Amino acid sequence: MNNLDFDFKNKVALVTGGARGIGFEITKSFLQAGAVVHAWDYDLETLESAKKELSQFSSQLHCQQVDVSQFASCSQAAESLNDLDILVNNAGITRDKSFAKMTPELFQEVINTNLSGVFNTTKACLTRFSESSAQKRIISLSSVVALYGNFGQTNYVAAKAGVIGMTKTWARELGSKGFTANAIAPGFTRTPMVAAMPNEILEQMESKVPVRALGEPRDIANACLFLASEEARYINGTTLSVDGGLVI
Ligand SMILES: NC(=O)c1ccc[n+]([C@@H]2O[C@H](COP(=O)([O-])OP(=O)(O)OC[C@H]3O[C@@H](n4cnc5c(N)ncnc54)[C@H](O)[C@@H]3O)[C@@H](O)[C@H]2O)c1
Repeated sequence: MNNLDFDFKNKVALVTGGARGIGFEITKSFLQAGAVVHAWDYDLETLESAKKELSQFSSQLHCQQVDVSQFASCSQAAESLNDLDILVNNAGITRDKSFAKMTPELFQEVINTNLSGVFNTTKACLTRFSESSAQKRIISLSSVVALYGNFGQTNYVAAKAGVIGMTKTWARELGSKGFTANAIAPGFTRTPMVAAMPNEILEQMESKVPVRALGEPRDIANACLFLASEEARYINGTTLSVDGGLVI
């Protein structure tokens, strides 16, 4: 599909964790559709390589080193933002361990990035949205596991379920101010991390998905473009599963 089918010219988007994996694909898709994109990521090397790979869009792309787990980092970076239309809270980490082995530190680390990070970014950016935009969008990456739990992911599931709760609250609080807030729950998605797994595991994962395929980062980016578009103006407070039917 050609992303030019979506027209985001004159729109400004911010994508956290926007330099790698799903976030990179979201950044690229918004650039292809004509938007100005601010990509925040805490990993400088990753930001540099994204910048290189997206050099054809250099006039539209602004990369910034930001740690979303730190409110001060977000609010400082947000100062240079103006007339934002679309915020995509994508940055996330995993620190998996069974509950018996999960330390409070491992729990907190994931909460700090995957839950507080969404709060910090959205809070810091709320006043940076374009006042005149009728199409203000907050899109946050949750996960299928928020809907059904997962072995070894107490921290991650708690954070991703929290994202769905915050999204519903923002949908209610901000709906009258021209915003929609929605979450996306990806299933198994073929990011570099997943692709590096042994074939046997990948085949096992695929066999659990009704459409018998892993998702591609592009599938998540397409959902994101749709939720950000004018056509999705009446979708608010929902969690869109993009998982091949894994969670029905
Ligand atoms: N890949 C999957 O199968 C899958 C499934 C469900 C949900 N998700 C969610 O989708 C999102 C993207 O996942 P991915 O697989 O592309 O991950 P990834 O690890 O490939 O990329 C995440 C990016 O976020 C950045 N990041 C991490 N912590 C950060 C912080 N504190 N501040 C700023 N940047 C930070 C990383 O540097 C990286 O560039 C995550 O929220 C993840 O939980 C992924």
